[in-house]
Amino acid sequence: MQRCAPLLLARGKPCKNLKEAAETYRALLDFREVFGNDAPVELEVGCGNGGFLLEKAQREHGVNFLAVELCTNVILTAMERMQAAGLGNVRFLNIPAEILACYIPPHSVRKIYLNFSTPLPERSREKQRLTSPRFLSIYRELLEAGGSIEQKTDSEPFFDYSLEQFAQNGFEVREVSRDLHRSEWAGENIVTEYEAKFAAQGLPIFRAVAVLK
Ligand SMILES: C[S@@+](CC[C@H](N)C(=O)[O-])C[C@H]1O[C@@H](n2cnc3c(N)ncnc32)[C@H](O)[C@@H]1O
Repeated sequence: MQRCAPLLLARGKPCKNLKEAAETYRALLDFREVFGNDAPVELEVGCGNGGFLLEKAQREHGVNFLAVELCTNVILTAMERMQAAGLGNVRFLNIPAEILACYIPPHSVRKIYLNFSTPLPERSREKQRLTSPRFLSIYRELLEAGGSIEQKTDSEPFFDYSLEQFAQNGFEVREVSRDLHRSEWAGENIVTEYEAKFAAQGLPIFRAVAVLK
């Protein structure tokens, strides 16, 4: 069992593990029902305390946002913050990204944000990195034609790894910055909780957009 992962119950029958759930369980969301409109849907995987989407959803009322987070206590904080701000265009999924396809209809998401995902430098944990081929295959299934992934990280090795994986797994890499806060994209950038900590230590922030080919 993963740390913080909720027990997945496929109606009446618990799934043995995440792999079985990812392959067999389907409870696809009807976004029109969930959000009450047909606006485009964007997803943040690993939303943490929700600072990024709190700002994003305030800036972009015409977009629906889905916040995905493995840790229940963390996502609860994010939910409380969105509720306090009275935001109607954010919903939450307390699941590990491994089982996104159980809930998100194929080709229904316009953009996926990966903000400061854990780099997991150990070779043995490569499959768990959120930009490994395993996850890129999940995102390819969820993204609309021409959809994209926006990644930010403080880890240069993880960034280089991700750029390589994007290029090798059906994405075109664009808007690469190795010092986001001093780049042309700095003005529109929303600083996340982790980003603020790293930037305060003087560390450069890496950012790229990977567009589905
Ligand atoms: C380093 S924090 C970054 C939080 C936030 N995005 C930020 O930039 O401040 C990474 C978050 O991703 C979540 N996470 C890690 N692996 C995940 C997975 N497989 N599925 C969903 N969330 C995950 C963690 O629980 C944690 O809250």
